Amino acid sequence: MLMPQLKEARKRTKKAAEVKKYEIDDKLKTLGLGKTYYIKTYGCQMNVHDSENIKAILEDMGFKESSNMDQADLILLNTCAIRENAHNKVFGMIGRLKHMKQDRPDIITGICGCMAQEEVVVKEILDKYSFLDVVFGTHNIHELPGILDKAMHKNKIEVDVMAIEGDIVENVPVKRDSKYKAFVNIMYGCDKFCTYCIVPYTRGKQRSRRFEDIIAEVKGLKEDGYKEVTLLGQNVNAYGKDLNIKYDMSDLLEDVAKTGIERIRFVTSHPWDFTDRMIEVIGKYANIMPYIHLPLQSGSDRILKLMGRRYTKESYLKLFNKIKATVPNAAITTDIIVGFPGESEEDFLDTLDVVNTCKYDSAFTFIFSPREGTPAAKMKDDTPLKVKEDRLHKLNEIVNKYALIANQKYLGKVVPVLLENVSEKNDDMLAGYTDTMKLVNVKAPKEMLGEIVNVKITDVKTWSMDGEIA
Ligand code: SAH
Ligand code: SF4
Ligand code: F3S
Repeated sequence: MLMPQLKEARKRTKKAAEVKKYEIDDKLKTLGLGKTYYIKTYGCQMNVHDSENIKAILEDMGFKESSNMDQADLILLNTCAIRENAHNKVFGMIGRLKHMKQDRPDIITGICGCMAQEEVVVKEILDKYSFLDVVFGTHNIHELPGILDKAMHKNKIEVDVMAIEGDIVENVPVKRDSKYKAFVNIMYGCDKFCTYCIVPYTRGKQRSRRFEDIIAEVKGLKEDGYKEVTLLGQNVNAYGKDLNIKYDMSDLLEDVAKTGIERIRFVTSHPWDFTDRMIEVIGKYANIMPYIHLPLQSGSDRILKLMGRRYTKESYLKLFNKIKATVPNAAITTDIIVGFPGESEEDFLDTLDVVNTCKYDSAFTFIFSPREGTPAAKMKDDTPLKVKEDRLHKLNEIVNKYALIANQKYLGKVVPVLLENVSEKNDDMLAGYTDTMKLVNVKAPKEMLGEIVNVKITDVKTWSMDGEIA
C-alpha cells in the first residue's frame, strides 16, 4: 500500500523532474479482454485529459468502453478536490458504487484523480469505503496496468498513491473525446501555492514538458486533421521556468503557432507571469485565439496578499489594459472567489469595482471552500455563509449582465465557428465555438462537423448564441 502524505506533498526539492516513458508489459495486454469500463470525470480540463489517457491505457489492456455505468465491469471515478462540493459529489457516487458492488460483486470499482492524492480522503476511504478495489493517484496513471493487475488479483483494496513531486511521462496513449480539438499538456503541477488552493498538493511540483515533445505532438495532431489545440497547465505562463533553458511561454506559443495548426488556445494564465512578449505573440499570430482566461480571484489588495497571488488590483488592471490594447478583439474571462477568510464588504466592493471596470466576457465565481492542509483553511473566517451567498449572488448578477452585453456585440456579425458536435438542445443544429470561445448553435448539416465555417449570429443570450451559415 502506498499512501498519500500531506507533508510530502508540500515539499519541493531542487531535484529536476525525470522524463520517463510509458510502457506496458505484454502479459498485461490481455487483462481486460472481454471486459468493459466506464469512467466518470469530475474535474478541470487537465482531469478530462487524464481520463483520455486512462481510457487509452485501459484499451491497451483489452478493455472496451461502455456508455452505461450500470453495465460496466470496471468503474473509475476520476475526481477533483478543488472545492468541498466536488468532494461531496464523489462520496455520493461512492455510496452508489457500494450498492452496485452488492448486486454485482465481480465488478471492479476505484477512484483516481486529485482526491486520491489527499491523505484525509484516502484515510476516509480505508475507514469507511474499503469495498472499493483500487485507489491510484495523479502521479502514477502510467503505471495503471500493473496497479490494476494487483487489484484484480486480491480481494482487498489496492491503494497506490505516490506522495512525490512527480515526473514527466511521455508516450502515454490517449483516446481523445473529440476528432477536431485536442488537449496538449505543456506542464504539470504548480509551485504557486496560493493559500486557498489544493492543486500544488495534488499535482506536485511545476514541471514543464520538453518543447520538442510538445511541438511534435501538435504537428502530429495537425497531420491527423485536428483543427484546434488547447495547451494545458495550471499556470501556463510559467512554462519553462523550471527548465534551465532560455525558452519561455512566448517562445512556445510562437513555435506552436508556426506549426500552422488552425486554432491555438491555452489555459490557465496566472497574471503574475504574463509577459509583454507573450501579449505581442498572441497579437501577432492569427492562429492564436483572441481568448484569454485571466483569473482575478479578488479585487482587494489586502485579500490578494492573503491569497498569495502576488499582484495588486492596479497591476492586474494594467495587464488587462495592455492585453486589450494589443489584442483589441480579445475576449477575457476570469475566476473569482468571494468570502475568502476575513473578506470585508469593502474588499468585496473592490472586487465588484474590477468587474465593473473589466466587463468580463464571462466569469467562474465561487464561494471560498476551505481545503484541509492549505494555509487559508486555518485563517479566521467569521463571515456568515448567508453573507457570502449574498455576495456571490450580487457578483453573478453583474457578471451575467456584462456577459450578455459582450454577446450582444455579435448580433448580425459574421464570425468563424469550429463546428464540433451536435447541439445539446436541438438535433438539427450543430454547436461550436467562435475564436473568442463563445458557444454558438448553428443550423447546419452534420456533414459540416469538424469544419471552421463563417456563421452569421442571429440571436444572443447570456451563455450562448444562435446563428446560421453565412
Ligand atoms: N491554476 C488556476 C486555477 C485552477 S483552480 C489559476 O491559478 O488561475 C480553478 C479556480 O478554482 C481558481 O481560479 C479559483 O477561483 C477556484 N478555487 C481554487 N481553490 C478554491 C477554493 N479553495 N475555494 C473556492 N474556489 C477555489
Ligand atoms: Fe492553485 Fe494558485 Fe496554482 Fe492556480 S496558481 S493552481 S490557484 S496554487
Ligand atoms: Fe480539480 Fe485537480 Fe483539476 S483539484 S481542478 S481536478 S487539478
